[in-house]
Order: sequence, then C-alpha cells, then structure tokens
Amino acid sequence: MNNKKVVVLGGGVLGTQIGLMCAYYGYDTTFWLRSESSVGRTQPKIERYSALMLEDLAQAKALVGTPMGAFVYPRGLIKDWKAATAESLDELYAAGKKNLEENVHIELDKAAAVKDAYLVIESMSEDPKAKIDVYTQFKDLLDEDTILVTNSSTLLPSMFAEYTGRPEKYLSLHFANTIWKNNTAEVMGHPTTSPEIYNEVVKFAASIGMVPLQLHKEQPGYILNSMLVPFLSAAQGLWANGVADPETIDLTWQLATSAPAGPFKILDIVGLETAYNINQMKPASQQEGTTEYKIGKLLKEKIDKGETGVNAGKGFYDYTKK
Ligand SMILES: NC(=O)c1ccc[n+]([C@@H]2O[C@H](COP(=O)([O-])OP(=O)(O)OC[C@H]3O[C@@H](n4cnc5c(N)ncnc54)[C@H](O)[C@@H]3O)[C@@H](O)[C@H]2O)c1
Repeated sequence: MNNKKVVVLGGGVLGTQIGLMCAYYGYDTTFWLRSESSVGRTQPKIERYSALMLEDLAQAKALVGTPMGAFVYPRGLIKDWKAATAESLDELYAAGKKNLEENVHIELDKAAAVKDAYLVIESMSEDPKAKIDVYTQFKDLLDEDTILVTNSSTLLPSMFAEYTGRPEKYLSLHFANTIWKNNTAEVMGHPTTSPEIYNEVVKFAASIGMVPLQLHKEQPGYILNSMLVPFLSAAQGLWANGVADPETIDLTWQLATSAPAGPFKILDIVGLETAYNINQMKPASQQEGTTEYKIGKLLKEKIDKGETGVNAGKGFYDYTKK
C-alpha cells in the first residue's frame, strides 16, 4: 500500500476540491472518472479551483498583521496563521503550486485508479443507487487495507456499509464547500466502523488542513447539515410559495444577522443539482401542491436552463456580470 496515495471517486464540485486539498498537502492524488466526457467536465474544475486556492493564498500576504486577517485567511491552506509572514507565505505558495501541478492525476480505469491506495474518498452525486452501484464495482478492486470514506451530505454510512466489502474500514468524512477556506471535516462512523480506522481518518483530515469534527453516532445531515438543510429549505419554501424573491430573502438574512451571504447565494455555491437531489428525496416532493413539489419544479426549470449556480456562471444570481 502507498500511504501517500489518495483516490477520489467523482470529479464534481466537492470531489475536485477535496482532491486538490490532498494534492496541495503532498498526497499523490488520482481522480477516478467514469468517462471521457466526465474528464471534459472535471479538468476545467481542477484548473478553476487550483487557481482560486492559489489566488486566496497569494492574497493572504496582505492580511498578515491586520486585525481582520485571522478571520478571513484561507484556513485550510495555512496551518499556522500566527506564525505566517510574507516570506513564509511566499514559500508556501511555491510549494503548494508545485504540489497542485505535480500530484493530480485522472484515471478512467477502475483497477488502475485504486491500486495500492491508502484512502479512497467517494464524492459522487447524492444518489443512493449510483453510490451502491459504484461501491459494488470497486469492492473487489480495492487493496485489503484501503480505507473507504464517503463525502455524502445526507446519507448514512450504515446504508452502504454492506456493499463496500469492508464495513469496518468504511465511514463518512464530510467536507464543506470551498473547503480550502471552510475547513470542516465531519467524521462519522457507523456501528461497525473500527475505532482505529476512525482515528486514522481523523488524523488524515488534519493532515490536509481540515479541522476534524468528531460525531459520536450517526446523524442524518451530520452537525452542519442538521442546521443548514432546514435553513435552505425554509428559504426555498418562501420563494416557491411566492412570499418573496430570492434577493429579498437573502437581504433580510444578511441585514438581520450580519451574515456575509444569504440562503440563495449559499445555494448557488452548493450547486442547484445537489439542492434538487436533496429535494427529490423528500416524499412530499412527489406530491403535487406541496411546497417541496413546487421547490422541485422551480429548481428543475433552472437546472434545465443551465442555471446551476456559481460554477455555471448563473444560478439565482448572474456571475458573468462584472
Ligand atoms: N456541493 C456541496 O456543497 C457538497 C458539500 C459537501 C458534500 N457534498 C457531497 O459530495 C458528493 C458530491 O457532490 P457534488 O456537489 O460534488 O456533486 P456534483 O454533481 O458536482 O458531482 C457529482 C460527480 O459524480 C459523478 N457521478 C455521478 N454518477 C456517477 C456514476 N454512476 N459513476 C461515476 N461517477 C458518477 C459525476 O460525473 C460528477 O463528477 C455528494 O454526496 C454530496 O452530497 C456536496
């Protein structure tokens, strides 16, 4: 086994960000993608997120010694902010850039992708059938010691453990969007996850600049989404029921709580496909006339127009305008 080899299954919004953080911290990182057309979609994301990470790192220099610096520096990229100087950040930038350039690989062949892997991180669409399908295809290809984690936001590891062929080496490791700044890593086992493997994953998370947040038991939505999903659903309900438009809802939230972004800006960052998949899992979304049904219909209209969020240039807001 190669202790520095990490494989990410899925090159979407989160998969790309996670893989890049691994590469930045020196792991030999392979994205497994299912087709050439997936490569065409993931390659630009790799470029875009690498550039964003390095841009934030470069801008951090101007924050050294300022009162706001400690609040806004890219926490995932700089482990010791108190010790940071302009020179140390220059060195970090050069090392990070080199790592991002040298440590990222894309592989379509399943067996070649996971050969000798220390850790495989599944970050595919939030679709239980697709996840089961992929676990089943990979289970006999993984080395005996390889640890498998899922980045699923809303599904429990116990739903999938039996399909992985390694239930004791399988658990959830859940990241937040814009991982290089919002460096949370929620670590959640299922009842038969080995405690040693759980602790190993906690250590791994810290090694890629995350703050590991340990859950003592399975909780749908972990800590973060137990709070965030109801919040975003409430906002979408106000929109879908015609109570107020997204801009007004965001403005209300921002003015009243001093939060830097409102729920629809957050939805644009998360991506509307993920929001739609979460909506579709609620039974009420299939019943005409319910708020969830109206939300699903409106999200689908936007997705069909290609307005899927920041990555597409347009979601609830237009990001192509200067
Ligand atoms: N977007 C977020 O803010 C966020 C945050 C934390 C966790 N997550 C979780 O991360 C996971 C991925 O989310 P995302 O936002 O990156 O989604 P995404 O839609 O951007 O990407 C999904 C990826 O999965 C691939 N995929 C889908 N079905 C597949 C299959 N059958 N075989 C192989 N590949 C397949 C797609 O090609 C794509 O690369 C989900 O489980 C989601 O819940 C998302």
